[in-house]
Amino acid sequence: MEYNYQKILKQVKKIVLTANNSRANKYGPTVWTYHLEFVASYSLKLAKKLKADKEIVELAAYLHDYASLINFKNAKNHHVVGAEEAKKILTKLGLPEEKITAVAYCILNHRGSVSLIKKTKEEKIIASADAMSHFSCAPDMFLLAYKIHKFETYEGAVWLKNKLKRSWNKIIPEGQKMIKNKKNLFYKVLDQVLK
Ligand SMILES: [Fe+2]
Ligand SMILES: [Fe+2]
Repeated sequence: MEYNYQKILKQVKKIVLTANNSRANKYGPTVWTYHLEFVASYSLKLAKKLKADKEIVELAAYLHDYASLINFKNAKNHHVVGAEEAKKILTKLGLPEEKITAVAYCILNHRGSVSLIKKTKEEKIIASADAMSHFSCAPDMFLLAYKIHKFETYEGAVWLKNKLKRSWNKIIPEGQKMIKNKKNLFYKVLDQVLK
C-alpha cells in the first residue's frame, strides 16, 4: 500500500502538539520541547546507528506518552492506553498495518518501571531514547521534582538521582555513550546536595 510518510508524521505531530498544549496535560506544555523532541531526536540517531526503521521509531517517539497527555488518569497505564490510541490514530492516517503494530509495541514496551522483554530494535530504541531524554534537560527534571512532585531540596535530589540511575540502566550501550557527559554533569549538580 502506498502511503505518504511525511504527511502522516505531520498529522501525528499536530495531534500530539494539540494534546500537549491542552489543559488536560497536567505535566505542562514543556513536555513537547523538553521530552518528546529529545526522544524523537535520540530515537532517530539510534535508528541510524542500529539500522532500525526510522519511521517506526519517529512515530512511536511522538506518540509514546500521548495517553498521559490527554488524560492524567491514564498515567499509570499510559503505555497500554497509548498503544491502543496510536493504533486508532495511525489506522485513520493510512499507515501500513505492520508498521502500526510495530509502533504500538514500541509504546507498549517503552516503560522502564514496567519490566517487559523488549524484542525488536525499535522497541529497545524507544525505551532507551525515553530514558536518555531525562539527562538532556536538567532544568525540566527539576521542574518535575520540585514543582510537579513538590519535593523539598534534599528529598528532590534523592528522588532525582534514583530516577536517573534507573533511567541510565535502561539505556542501551550505544545510547549511554551518546549522553555520558550529560549524565556526569547532572550527577555533579545533584551531588552538591547529596554529599
Ligand atoms: Fe512514558
Ligand atoms: Fe516518555
